[in-house]
Amino acid sequence: MNTTSNNFTLKEKKPLSSLDEWEDDVLQRYPEPESIASAKTTDEYRNYEAPVRDTVKEFYRLNHTYQTYDFVQEKRNNFLKFNKKEMPVWNAFEFLNQLVDDSDPDTDLDQFQHLLQTSEAIRKDGHPDWMVLVGLMHDMGKVLCLFGEPQWAVVGDTFPVGCAYSGKIVYPEFFKNNPDYSNPEYQTQYGVYKKGCGLRNVNMSWGHDEYIYQMLKDYLPESGLYMLRYHSFYAWHREGEYSYLMDDHDKEMLKWVKLFNPYDLYSKNPEQPDWKKLKPYYEELVQKYLPSTLKF
Ligand SMILES: [Fe+2]
Ligand SMILES: [Fe+2]
Repeated sequence: MNTTSNNFTLKEKKPLSSLDEWEDDVLQRYPEPESIASAKTTDEYRNYEAPVRDTVKEFYRLNHTYQTYDFVQEKRNNFLKFNKKEMPVWNAFEFLNQLVDDSDPDTDLDQFQHLLQTSEAIRKDGHPDWMVLVGLMHDMGKVLCLFGEPQWAVVGDTFPVGCAYSGKIVYPEFFKNNPDYSNPEYQTQYGVYKKGCGLRNVNMSWGHDEYIYQMLKDYLPESGLYMLRYHSFYAWHREGEYSYLMDDHDKEMLKWVKLFNPYDLYSKNPEQPDWKKLKPYYEELVQKYLPSTLKF
C-alpha cells in the first residue's frame, strides 16, 4: 500500500496498540498528587515503558500533522449529522466495547469498566447525579474508531485549530508538519477567532470529546457539558493556556472541568465494580436524563 498522501498504512493509522496507551501517557504527565492518592501505589497503574513512549510519540506525530482546521470542519460536517446509527443507550456500551486492544500484553479494562470506575468514583464522593452520568458517558465518543476513524482523530490531547499552537501542548514540535503551520492567518495568537470570544466559538482538534458533547448537549447541565467537551484539553485545564480565548463563562466553567479530570485519570483500578449490584441505579440514572436511544 502506498504510504504517501492521505493513505495510511495500518501501522500509521494505528500506532497505539490500545487507546489506553494515550491515557497512560497522560497519567505519566500528570501523576496523581500525593495528597489525593488513595492506598494505590503508582506501581499498580500500568508500568510505562519505552516502547509505549515510542508509539505515543508516533501517535502525536500523526495527530499534530493531520489535525488541520479544514480537517476539523470536514469531520464536524460528517459526524455531527448523527445519521450513522441509532441504538438504545445500553446497546451503545456494548457497541463501544467492541473496541478491543490489538496486542496489549496487559489485561486492560474494557471501555465500559473505565467508564463505570469513573462514574463510581464520582458517586462515592457525593457529587450530583448528572456528574455521575458524565463519568459514565464521557468516553462514549471513542466509538468513532468503530466508524473507521484513525486513532489520531479520536483520542489524544485536544487543542484549538485556526490559531497559534501553545508550546505547552504535548510534542509541540510536530506542529511544524501541519499545513496550518505555514498559513499565517492561522498562526497569530487569536488566528481566526477574536480575543475573549469564548471557547464555544473555537474549533478544537477533532476527537471523542466534541462528538460526545454534541451527542448529549440537550440532556445535561452546562457544567456537565463542559466536562464532556473539554476533558482532553489538557493545555487549558492543566496548563492554564489559551486564557485569551476564554470569556467569563469559560472561566466559571473551568472549575467543573478541573473537578472532573482526576476522576477520569485516577480512578483506574484492577478491581472491577460489581455491575450486577450497580445496574438498577444506573438504569434509573440513564432513564432520568437520556432519551431511550442515542444517535451516532
Ligand atoms: Fe476521554
Ligand atoms: Fe476517560
